[in-house]
Amino acid sequence: MLASSTVTSSTVTPVALAPRPFLKWAGGKRRLLTQYEDYFPQRIDRYYEPFLGGGAVFFHLYPRLTTATIADANPELINVYDCLKNQVDQVIAQLDQHRQHHSEDHYYQVRNQSKTSLTPAQRAARLIYLNRTCYNGLYRENAQGRFNVPMGRYKRPMICNAELLRAVARSLNQVEVRLASFQDSSASAQPGDFVYFDPPYHPLSATSNFTAYSRYPFGAEQQIALRDVFADLAKRGVQVMLSNSDCQFIRQLYADFELHTITACRSINSKAQRRGKITEVLVTANLPSRPQQTT
Ligand SMILES: C[S@@+](CC[C@H](N)C(=O)[O-])C[C@H]1O[C@@H](n2cnc3c(N)ncnc32)[C@H](O)[C@@H]1O
Repeated sequence: MLASSTVTSSTVTPVALAPRPFLKWAGGKRRLLTQYEDYFPQRIDRYYEPFLGGGAVFFHLYPRLTTATIADANPELINVYDCLKNQVDQVIAQLDQHRQHHSEDHYYQVRNQSKTSLTPAQRAARLIYLNRTCYNGLYRENAQGRFNVPMGRYKRPMICNAELLRAVARSLNQVEVRLASFQDSSASAQPGDFVYFDPPYHPLSATSNFTAYSRYPFGAEQQIALRDVFADLAKRGVQVMLSNSDCQFIRQLYADFELHTITACRSINSKAQRRGKITEVLVTANLPSRPQQTT
C-alpha cells in the first residue's frame, strides 16, 4: 500500500498513497498491530473508535471498512480530523506557511497563539505543526488549556506532507468524526459492528500516571465507567476490543472477559533506562478467542 506509482511498459500510473497516522500521539498503537491482528473480526459492519488519538488502528483497518465513527474528547485533535475531512487544502496552505517560517522563534510564537483568535483550519495547521516539531511529539496542555511542550531538536522535521494529508482526507469521506466522550460515541453500536477502545492507560504505579493527554483526567472512576460501557456492548452482541495497562486493577475489572497478554515497548519516557519491554492487556468480547491459524 505504500507504493506511489506503478510502472507499465509505456505509462506511469499514479497509485494513491495509503492513509496512515500523520500525528505522533502518545499511546500510538502502530507497533502492536501485528499482535492485534489475530483478534480483529472477520466482518465489520460499522467500525467505532472512541479514543482516536493518532488513529493507528483506524488507518490499519481502513481498507476493510465501509463506514465508521471516530471520536475523541480532545477538541483540538477532533478539529484537525474535521478540517482534513472538509477543508484539506486550507490546512495544507497554512501548514506550508509554518514549514517556510520554521525556526525556534516561530515555534514559540505559534505555541503562544491564542486558539480562539484562529480559524479552524489555522488551528488544525497549528496543532500539526507543533506536533511535528515539539519535543517527543507529546500533546500536553496546562490547566489553562495551553499547549506547553518545548521545541524538539529535529534537523529536518517533516512538517507538511501534503500527499499524506490528502490521503487522510479521502479516507475520512464516509466517516463520521465526533467530539464526544466514549459513552456517547459508542452508544449506537449494533451486533456486527466493531468497537475498539484505547483509553488513557491506568497507571502502573503512583509515579507513572501518564494519563494527562489533555486537561481531562482519566482516573479509576472513568476506567470503571468504561468497563460498564464495554460490558453493555458485549452483552448486546457487539464485537469489542480494549487495550490497557497490565495491572491487577485492570485484570480484575475485566475478569469476566477474554484477556490476552501483549508485549509492548515503552516509548514515551524521559528516562532512557525506563524504555524497555512491558506487557499490556487486550480485552475482547464476541471476537476470535485465540490467534487464528492461516492455512
Ligand atoms: C491512548 S490515546 C489513543 C491512542 C490511539 N489509539 C493511537 O493509536 O494514537 C487516548 C485518547 O483518549 C482521549 N480521551 C481521554 N479521555 C477521553 C474520554 N473521556 N472520551 C473520549 N476520549 C478521551 C485522549 O484525548 C487521547 O487521544
